[in-house]
Amino acid sequence: MKIAVIGTGYVGLVQGVGLAEKGHEVVCVDIDKEKIEKLKQGISPIYEPGLDELIEKNIKAKQLSFSTDLASSINGAKAIFIGVGTPQGEGGAADLSYVYTVAREIGESMKEYSVIINKSTVPVGSAKKVADIIKENYDNEFDVVSNPEFLREGMAVSDVMNPDRVVIGTNSKTAKKIMEEIYKDFDCPKVFVTPESAELIKYASNAFLATKISFINEIAGICERVGADVKEVSEGMGLDKRIGDKFLEAGLGYGGSCFPKDTRALHQIANLNNYEFKILKSVIEVNNNQKRLIREKIKKTFPDMRGKIFAVWGLAFKPDTDDVRESPAINLIRWLIGRGVKVRACDPIAIENAKSHLPHEVEYFDSPYDAASGADAVVVITDWNHFKEIDKNLLKEVLGEHNIFDGRNIFDPREMKELGFNYHGIGRRV
Ligand SMILES: NC(=O)c1ccc[n+]([C@@H]2O[C@H](COP(=O)([O-])OP(=O)(O)OC[C@H]3O[C@@H](n4cnc5c(N)ncnc54)[C@H](O)[C@@H]3O)[C@@H](O)[C@H]2O)c1
Repeated sequence: MKIAVIGTGYVGLVQGVGLAEKGHEVVCVDIDKEKIEKLKQGISPIYEPGLDELIEKNIKAKQLSFSTDLASSINGAKAIFIGVGTPQGEGGAADLSYVYTVAREIGESMKEYSVIINKSTVPVGSAKKVADIIKENYDNEFDVVSNPEFLREGMAVSDVMNPDRVVIGTNSKTAKKIMEEIYKDFDCPKVFVTPESAELIKYASNAFLATKISFINEIAGICERVGADVKEVSEGMGLDKRIGDKFLEAGLGYGGSCFPKDTRALHQIANLNNYEFKILKSVIEVNNNQKRLIREKIKKTFPDMRGKIFAVWGLAFKPDTDDVRESPAINLIRWLIGRGVKVRACDPIAIENAKSHLPHEVEYFDSPYDAASGADAVVVITDWNHFKEIDKNLLKEVLGEHNIFDGRNIFDPREMKELGFNYHGIGRRV
């Protein structure tokens, strides 16, 4: 099937490549000329394991192409995916301006029936809103379907190729048939619901996962007060199949381009509908406090941190991605610099993306040992394997003062103490 995908970010690009790999003829469209030029040469603008190989393979097979021209790209496409950004807007609501711009352009350029598919995360009622915008310029038949995406950055290729489920929100029989054809080679449950339910499934899923994270962070707070260890508690809880061990890791809280904005957007949806979503409000509050917790721990050890040298390990909001949107590293580094600390930042792949968000004083290092050399403290922000597998004896040799603030609990506090480190984890028993 000929398919157009509008927006070639983490979602649109991987979705487009995945559909091409499954045998569809896909054109990916973006307004960012530089991105499209790179993609035409087979170079991915984002870091996702396995993505470059699939791009190259499908360009060669003529299953995949790239363009900046929406009008010509949607010509003849039976399905048009919208995968542009929906960042946080005013009052926490999702900013739908990019989606609406694309909807308007589709309406102006469409020539025959097509299914327009909202892949972006959008509030309940957006399928209808997108249809209304298209109708302003196009008065023949078309359908708008909600088909939210659940991929995890860093695992995007395997998540798109082997999803747990595909959620499809539509009331149209024609659109349902086309969606079945698009996903016929994806071996997973297909959940057909109304557009409203599909839109809510996405927000509810992210809010639930965020709730697990804030819950275990609250448990970590109790652990610190009663002498329990949150790693032991979450392991003991997670073995219960009803609970599961995923998203039960205490730390600096959730970040990234989705959970923070999607929890706020769902809270806003509830508010607009006169519903007080009490749990979600607390989840957001707990997460905001969690990011500040490490500062309190640092201040306790360094009441005056002026002139100190800190190695900050990790800039990406989580491992295996170069995405730094809402990464706790950004605000923490700004806070440290504001207090006169010399910051040496280290990340395996996110340095280039982080630079534009950080003060010019920050120094960057590829090697965690070089960043830590002669420093007064190491602050772990991202749980990259790179850091987990560190030679602790060598680290001890190079570090000036042996302070470790482990925001992701990647080290064993007892082992670190034995090695002579002044170790601070989150909810850990030393
Ligand atoms: N990143 C994730 O892990 C993830 C997971 C699931 C769902 N989502 C949702 O998917 C959507 C996209 O997220 P993302 O992370 O891929 O965003 P992104 O910022 O990485 O990419 C968006 C792309 O859309 C392009 N764009 C903007 N306006 C355009 C236009 N008028 N025409 C063509 N292209 C245009 C931008 O240039 C950019 O390349 C969001 O709604 C997000 O919430 C993201």
